[in-house]
Amino acid sequence: MVRAHIVSTGMAVPEKIINNFDLEKIVDTTDQWIRERTGMFERHVTDKDTAASDLALLASRQALEMGGIEPRELDAILVATISGDYAWPATACILQHKLGAKNAMAFDLSAACSGYIYGLSVAQAYIESGLYKNILLVGVDLLTKVVDWTDRNTCVLFGDGAGATILQPNGSAAGILGTLLGADGSTADLLCQPCGGSRVPISEEAIREKKHFLYLNGREIFKHAVRVMTQTCHDVLKQCGLTLDDVKTVVPHQANIRIIEAVAQRLGLPMDRFFVNVEKYANTSAATIPIALHEAREQGILQSGDRALLVSFGGGLTWAGGVVQF
Ligand code: UT7
Repeated sequence: MVRAHIVSTGMAVPEKIINNFDLEKIVDTTDQWIRERTGMFERHVTDKDTAASDLALLASRQALEMGGIEPRELDAILVATISGDYAWPATACILQHKLGAKNAMAFDLSAACSGYIYGLSVAQAYIESGLYKNILLVGVDLLTKVVDWTDRNTCVLFGDGAGATILQPNGSAAGILGTLLGADGSTADLLCQPCGGSRVPISEEAIREKKHFLYLNGREIFKHAVRVMTQTCHDVLKQCGLTLDDVKTVVPHQANIRIIEAVAQRLGLPMDRFFVNVEKYANTSAATIPIALHEAREQGILQSGDRALLVSFGGGLTWAGGVVQF
């Protein structure tokens, strides 16, 4: 059977770092509160001239170089993002042009923090069906551009970043062993950016009411996240005919260390089975999992033959799981 295989990875974060002590000077918060409630210490923040495609380009070039693939060989570019360069057209098209990937079709997909695994599932289906062979999948978000920097409830939680992966067909046992996606639109208002679409177009009134900023009901999302991430881990493993003993490392969405710890506890796994980098980057939304995958590969935590269990939740609400063998 042909499987979709992750042949290479790349990542990019902006140079500028804002740590918790810097945030103490901006809003009414403390390093202690942020560390204890989220596990975060630093986050990378873009300057005003940098957009999603700029970070996506750096991450993509790294993944292409590592995989020994020329941009012209790509036949599909998928970008998971909710903070693309423009409302439209797709950031994937901007990226296609910047890379010179003239032979690739390109589109964005919107599943918030679950976007990367949603994209993985799409890439898996394309490759397994034989429709496309060389796919660039990027998760990129710059949510620091849409948070209210006077609101301590949200501005401390996010960072900017991009993670890229190249997927190709592979006849061996390695590859994407399974993906599982879910959504519940009845809770869409718990995590959203209300203004800027066709429901609430941009207007002076909407901006006065701060509807152009990211809105988050943290407590509700927290409970939902722990529940669906735990269940998704069980479900996607079952779908693959595997158990937790068959995976080396869990790579979860990095939204809050307490969410990850609660999932670990419910799964009965020690924290050293989880890859965690939330202290360095905070929540980079669609980029957390591809960045974590890149770092886990670079650090030798995920080597050839190792299986990783990916799991995420996000706005929509959405959730997603995947099992990948390197
Ligand atoms: O990836 C998807 C997007 N991310 C999420 O959805 C995140 C999910 N939720 C969470 O991670 C957590 O709910 C938060 C980190 C957002 C909040 O943690 P919490 O333990 O749920 O805190 P809380 O919202 O219950 O707030 C506790 C207190 C409140 O004060 P009062 O009302 O009890 O007096 C907040 O005003 O902490 C206060 N607070 C802060 N204090 C200092 C909220 N943010 C801060 C802050 N610094 N930055």
